Amino acid sequence: MPSYEVRTPQAAYSVLVEWGALGRTASLIPARTGRVFVITEERIWRHHGSRLTAGFSCPPEVLYFPGGEDRKRLATVEQLAEQMVAREADRTSLILAFGGGIVGDVAGFLAAGFMRGIPVIQAPTTLLAQVDAAVGGKTGVNLASGKNLFGAFHQPLAVLIDPQTLTTLPEREYRAGLFEVIKHGVIRSPELFELMRRRIQDVFARQPEVVERMISESVRLKSEVVSADEREADLRRILNFGHTFGHALEAETGFVRFLHGEAVGFGMQAAAELACRAGYLDRAACDLIRAVVDEYGPIPSLAGIDPDRLIALMASDKKTLQGRVHFVLPEAIGRVRVVTGIDPALVRASIQAALG
Ligand SMILES: NC(=O)c1ccc[n+]([C@@H]2O[C@H](COP(=O)([O-])OP(=O)(O)OC[C@H]3O[C@@H](n4cnc5c(N)ncnc54)[C@H](O)[C@@H]3O)[C@@H](O)[C@H]2O)c1
Ligand SMILES: [Zn+2]
Repeated sequence: MPSYEVRTPQAAYSVLVEWGALGRTASLIPARTGRVFVITEERIWRHHGSRLTAGFSCPPEVLYFPGGEDRKRLATVEQLAEQMVAREADRTSLILAFGGGIVGDVAGFLAAGFMRGIPVIQAPTTLLAQVDAAVGGKTGVNLASGKNLFGAFHQPLAVLIDPQTLTTLPEREYRAGLFEVIKHGVIRSPELFELMRRRIQDVFARQPEVVERMISESVRLKSEVVSADEREADLRRILNFGHTFGHALEAETGFVRFLHGEAVGFGMQAAAELACRAGYLDRAACDLIRAVVDEYGPIPSLAGIDPDRLIALMASDKKTLQGRVHFVLPEAIGRVRVVTGIDPALVRASIQAALG
């Protein structure tokens, strides 16, 4: 089974990627583990739960929550923790996060805090979570005042990725995840970018070999970046390609009009334009990035978006340190650099160009 190693000062673990891998879940549980608590959503469990429990001699406890951004809150973590206590969880318990990025973030944070920390295994079931959220140990919840403002780093014991779970993923969610895969290609993998460019029909058809390749390559790259730099400082920042503009678009539209990946699609268009206009990227490469993003669209209408509002939101993003906006700009397909101090007029023109 293809496996990628993550090594951080806090932990070392494997990320396994294989069609049908869910059947091996039980074999990943360490010998002296007490109760296993699966945190999931009811519909994910309905689709894939039986494959996950196949190898367990003693069935795990299953706790559901309804999912959705508005449930990614401290209240949910508290409720789940109380349910665990009611079912006799203790320090030897283990959490299995089985779902998309919402489940992964909530269950990961629950594990980080329960009895001051118990192990978690991430078993992501959306493309976005498989290629991004499940690897790297970031966990947390939203506050009323903003997304992901409350959390912890808690590296998993292992990450188990079964691309077969994607067969039931709604089309729009799948497409949103594809933008993060394109992002990985642009920042660090020309091969992955070529795969996304050349095999678009197979990607849309969720052809197993292509799906496994795009997940594996994304995981390889994210594992490398996270291992080199656990806490966002320098290298990890490159993962934010498309996100500076994308987060602003999500915030401006109240997090309801665009899925996160769709906003990143827009953000990559704007960032490619900015890289070109600021003289880091040639026009042909910029147009190629934009064309591939377009092919994986369309994203919901951008009508009525005001560039100046996006600029104001970028300045107040939590990733903006001391008022300096960092842009991750491609210099070629497969290579990016982090730049600050860009002329606001160029930023505005690039947003305008991406809005079309
Ligand atoms: N921790 C990180 O590093 C990190 C990175 C990126 C994103 N995130 C977080 O991830 C969250 C978004 O995650 P997401 O896009 O996976 O959304 P999500 O978890 O809401 O899942 C999307 C939808 O797909 C459904 N679903 C999930 N798996 C399914 C399956 N196999 N079959 C059918 N339906 C399925 C869910 O019920 C949900 O309705 C955001 O809150 C974001 O902040 C975290
Ligand atoms: Zn993202």
